[in-house]
Amino acid sequence: ESSETTRMKTMYNDAAHLFNHILVNTAMGEKALTYLHERGLDDAMIQEFNLGFAPAKELLEAFFKEKGLEHQLLRKSGLFVELQDGSLKERFQNRVLFPIRDPRGETIAFSGRLLIKDDKQPKYLNSPETLIFNKRKVLFNFDKAKSKIRQQKSAILFEGFMDVLAAYRAGVENGVASMGTSLTNEQVYLLERITDHLDICYDGDDPGQHATARAINLLEPLTKMELGVLHIPEKMDPDEYVKKYGSEKFHELAHSSRETTIAFYMRYYEQDRNLANEADQLAYLADVLQRLAKIKSPVERDIYLNQLGKRFGIEKSNLEAQLQTYATKDS
Ligand code: GTP
Ligand code: MN
Ligand code: MN
Ligand code: MN
Ligand code: MN
Repeated sequence: ESSETTRMKTMYNDAAHLFNHILVNTAMGEKALTYLHERGLDDAMIQEFNLGFAPAKELLEAFFKEKGLEHQLLRKSGLFVELQDGSLKERFQNRVLFPIRDPRGETIAFSGRLLIKDDKQPKYLNSPETLIFNKRKVLFNFDKAKSKIRQQKSAILFEGFMDVLAAYRAGVENGVASMGTSLTNEQVYLLERITDHLDICYDGDDPGQHATARAINLLEPLTKMELGVLHIPEKMDPDEYVKKYGSEKFHELAHSSRETTIAFYMRYYEQDRNLANEADQLAYLADVLQRLAKIKSPVERDIYLNQLGKRFGIEKSNLEAQLQTYATKDS
């Protein structure tokens, strides 16, 4: 590891410590602390994840210069934005900070959330890519989750940081999230090195369901991990679900409501369709049968064909015949 890398990691570590102190111990952090408490995070959770608050103040430049760090390193750190005249302004202002850690637990970036939504600024702001932060390679909470993932032989992939925290609070500690972007190959490799099973638990709203379909499409040809989907009802996200129904219920959902990817698609393809209408029904069946054509296990395929046959009153032999046409087209 180069000395610049080491020094930058120390900067992030020190900054995280400072922002946590501001959140927990100062008047500047009061509003943010109340905000987090209202979102259901207690002081133990706040410390466990070293959450912080960056006030609308310039603190870091003086803080680092006092430690003898040179301007060049500050510029490269991503903790500042550089103005036209070359001066530095803090990147994170008036935001709750979620430290992003590498697999060894060292802080390498932040994601900052506005306390109150605002049309002019993004809700979440991430650190830019730096010497130590490549967002394609990072999974939020991987450092803490990895031993649980090994123990439980499965991982859960969430959309948001708050979802990971809500699950953790509910005793579901094998959760990770990508950085608000779609899943990358690098992130998949991180997971498949330590587990054979991955459950996707994205938001129950339409964007979350579309993202689930995209994630499955990425994962299926890429990994041998067995995939499942945890579906959050009522278009909620996991954090909202925990808030509404409690930890116990979420824990139950995570442990006993896993859908297979096919069950996911059978539900997903129903979205925006009225299955009482024949044209919609045909389109639905075409979508589902194309999926089923990709299943290798004849027994598994049979289970779903039986379901479809019963539900739509179609002879199984006819479903099988149509499925065959998709199977030959594909190969
Ligand atoms: P909360 O509103 O705090 O509960 O966040 P959320 O996780 O429910 O947010 P949402 O479902 O809207 O988005 C999921 C994830 O996408 C977030 O956790 C972020 O990582 C990311 N994201 C959301 N909004 C933004 C944004 O404005 N900018 C960036 N860069 N990422 C975002
Ligand atoms: Mn458990
Ligand atoms: Mn969402
Ligand atoms: Mn969400
Ligand atoms: Mn949310």
